[in-house]
Amino acid sequence: MTVAQSATLTMDGRLDPQVTHRLRDLSVLVSLPQVTLRLMSLISNPNTSVKEVQEVLERDPALTAKIISLANSTYYSVRTPVKTVERAITIIGYQELGLLAMGLGLSETFNITTSPKGFDWESLWIHSLAVSWLSQRLAQRVGLAEIGEPMVAGLLHELGIIILVSKFPSQFQNLLDLILAGQSGLEAEKALRIRHELIGYELARQWKLPEVYQEVILYHHCPDKAPRYKQVVAMTALADALSHKLGFGLMTEVLEVDLAYYLEALGLSVLELQGFIKDTLLVANEVSPLWRQLLRFGEPSASKSRFSSLMKESEARKLGPA
Ligand SMILES: [Fe+2]
Ligand SMILES: [Fe+2]
Repeated sequence: MTVAQSATLTMDGRLDPQVTHRLRDLSVLVSLPQVTLRLMSLISNPNTSVKEVQEVLERDPALTAKIISLANSTYYSVRTPVKTVERAITIIGYQELGLLAMGLGLSETFNITTSPKGFDWESLWIHSLAVSWLSQRLAQRVGLAEIGEPMVAGLLHELGIIILVSKFPSQFQNLLDLILAGQSGLEAEKALRIRHELIGYELARQWKLPEVYQEVILYHHCPDKAPRYKQVVAMTALADALSHKLGFGLMTEVLEVDLAYYLEALGLSVLELQGFIKDTLLVANEVSPLWRQLLRFGEPSASKSRFSSLMKESEARKLGPA
């Protein structure tokens, strides 16, 4: 069964006809930059070399400038100025850098410059980065060899919200107004015949993104319905729920967590999950200032510890029971 067949069987696929119509035009008008698509496949592949990432990054002069500027920021405390992408990669880490470049590609593609009233667009990117980071940590915790795929999935899972904020501002404003008036995200979406999962999926499908990302985008609020990539979808969905616990959630979402499902899908015990959450809470406070800096390329507001070393440290750390 394909993702599309499954979608029509398991979800109420009816959207506001105006939205459906405009989505068809959007898939023609809006396309992801080649650099973003190439990075997506490189990060997802565990055999990717640093050199391959470097070659892709260097093809985009604007991106190269931003990356070198980031590597020279005080966050990384380098002693001698960074002048090459190669050195920037060794400082920041190729997966983190690739992910950042993908995030920039997405944000530039959708060009969100103004926030709808009552919504902070930066919180959307912080949420996406947080879910990506949490998915990566979960993948390491459950011993998955390919951590790149959950990382990319985390970054992309709210493609529908990104589309709504940037391309359907009046519909998104109506959604926000209902939520601010007390409705849950789900109730508000139902009332307006908007489903952010379906909107994101529709564009991902038209863009022909890899099926694993289509499934994550479509099923991140009902991971048990995912037909093929249950583990990655469960990982992203649990990371989504945990992002709320850590204070990086999206106000438009209500997450009903079926703990038993996640534990089974990921092969974790309750104690292991508790240990993971406790450990992650500690590290998140250190790493989150970097997410804000990644979005601004300005000076860091807090910790000066290195992102890549935190990643390595978190990977190496044994997660005991709480
Ligand atoms: Fe969502
Ligand atoms: Fe989310």
